[in-house]
Amino acid sequence: MDLALYAEGLGFYTAGRSRFGPGGDFYTASHVHPLFAATIARHLEGVRRSLGSARPFSIVELGPGDGALAEGIVRSLAGAATSGGPIEYVLVDRSEPLGLRARDRVERAGRAAGIRVRSRPDAGGEGPFSGAVLANELLDAQPARRLRWTGAGWAELGVRWDGSRLVAAESRTVRPVGGGPLPPGETDGLVVEVSPSAEAFVREVADHLVRGVLLILDYGMEESELRRAHPAGTLAAVRSHRTVSDPLDRPGETDLSTFVNFTRVRAAARSAGWTEVAFDRQAEALGRWGYPELLSEAIRRTRSPEEEVRLRLGSKNLLFGFDRFRALELVPASAGPPRDGVTHEGRGAGR
Ligand SMILES: C[S@@+](CC[C@H](N)C(=O)[O-])C[C@H]1O[C@@H](n2cnc3c(N)ncnc32)[C@H](O)[C@@H]1O
Repeated sequence: MDLALYAEGLGFYTAGRSRFGPGGDFYTASHVHPLFAATIARHLEGVRRSLGSARPFSIVELGPGDGALAEGIVRSLAGAATSGGPIEYVLVDRSEPLGLRARDRVERAGRAAGIRVRSRPDAGGEGPFSGAVLANELLDAQPARRLRWTGAGWAELGVRWDGSRLVAAESRTVRPVGGGPLPPGETDGLVVEVSPSAEAFVREVADHLVRGVLLILDYGMEESELRRAHPAGTLAAVRSHRTVSDPLDRPGETDLSTFVNFTRVRAAARSAGWTEVAFDRQAEALGRWGYPELLSEAIRRTRSPEEEVRLRLGSKNLLFGFDRFRALELVPASAGPPRDGVTHEGRGAGR
């Protein structure tokens, strides 16, 4: 999965083709409606106010892809940047071609908004900083381990080259899984996915973010829900907006992803010292961050009934089309209890 997505010059994200939007392979919420970025921007502005003296306020986006979300956030923060002190937006993408393209796009928006835009190959180079780290649909795009319950124990699923093509393989030698042993399967053949790379992000960001917030938005569930709802696992292969039945077919041209195993990611966050502020459905998080007010304002600004209908339909898609998405909001434990109006302590936590 790592090679198929990220092999230099060959992977799905690294071969230089655009994968986003109608002419690509998939959409994210960032492409569905500008209110998605506007709502996140409003929340980030609240975080900035709560940090008070943190100057400049850094927003580090991990995995910005084509930069659609970053552009929307930068545009939405234009007023805030002039009135509330400097803001900088840092794009961190593992894919060099995507990172360069996103930087051009977001830099243009940054110049108009008075926000400095930078890009980096990894978050580690930022050193200790205050601000916000944002990851939308980053964790599902990380290589995952797939484990299958055999009735007597767990086996690890993998891939083998049989001399002419890639074929599925299975090993009975299973390395330990981060966050504690997997409970035995409820049924033979049950597949559970875990992603050490996804878990590593929360540890890496914990090393650098001193004050502020880490927002993770992605499709995924608790492990117990995944076991119930997806006993065959969630590995999905997609090309040109269509599901492909064989994930080993045309590696590098096919998007591969798995649902985020939030039980393991949250356990990694706890052991890395994060305090969990909220873990809830993305639609609920957007609601808390000001989506209804922004929607009402946008509706008031429409100039025709048709424009209003289009806006309402887009809004419906954003809230209900992303039903399996969760929002995980973390603050560094050393930052102390979150301030009022910013981090919503306790809401949704532990659901
Ligand atoms: C599904 S896209 C996310 C799209 C984008 N966040 C949005 O809202 O439209 C996943 C992105 O994460 C990037 N990525 C994957 N692993 C990464 C890593 N370790 N560090 C930074 N970016 C990474 C990929 O190159 C790709 O651009």
